[in-house]
This record gives sequence, structure tokens and C-alpha cells, in this order.
Amino acid sequence: MKNAYAPYSHFKVGAALLTSTGEIVTGCNVENASYGVTNCAERTAIFSAVAKIGPTIEISAIAIVNDHEAPCAPCGACRQVIYEFGPQATVYFLSAKGWTELPITALLPEGFRLQ
Ligand code: THU
Repeated sequence: MKNAYAPYSHFKVGAALLTSTGEIVTGCNVENASYGVTNCAERTAIFSAVAKIGPTIEISAIAIVNDHEAPCAPCGACRQVIYEFGPQATVYFLSAKGWTELPITALLPEGFRLQ
């Protein structure tokens, strides 16, 4: 989170994922003047894990924090990316009800898979 590049929203986010082989990989949001190409912390962590460990990573869990201590569930795009590498992943995030732990399939029913 401390490394986030968030000059537009001033909302710094950090994510840490745990792989099925016990590695922890972190990520932060990286914004852009063309707002739509911003990368969320979750996707930065996942793409970093693929780059660092390889394409066979399996996400067991992913936790998300932000510097406002505000509710911050993963966005729809990030849910689909979490599902790609962790269909059984547990997601930890701050919701309006406080710290929440949910399976990705509860956050993303009927996630897309290319068969
Ligand atoms: N953001 C994340 O990095 N993860 C989330 O789960 C929600 C939103 C970022 C994107 C943008 O840089 C900032 O938070 C405000 O939307």
C-alpha cells in the first residue's frame, strides 16, 4: 500500500496474496492520467505473482487494505482475475460490516472459464 501510485484518487490500496505453495506476493494500485487504464492492487499482486513465480500459481487467499480504512471489496474485473488463478480462493477485505472473509465464488458467482 505504501508504494501505491494514486495521485488522482488519493486512495492507496495494497493487496497480499498467498499461493498454494506458501509464497506471499504483494501489489498496489497504479493509476494513470487516462483513468481507465489504472491497475488495481489485486491485479498488480496477481500479475506480479505470475511474473515472479510462473503461470501455474494458485491463489489460496488474498487480502486487501487501503489507507482510508474504508470498505473496499475487490472490483468486478479483479474478481474475475482472482477466480482465474484461485477458483477456491478466500478473499479478506473491509466491508461496511467490518473485516469480511468470503470465498471468491460468493463474490463472483458463475465466474467465466474458457473451456
Ligand atoms: N482500487 C484498488 O486498487 N482495489 C480495489 O479493490 C478497489 C479500488 C483502486 C483503484 C483506484 O486507483 C483507486 O482504488 C480508487 O478507485
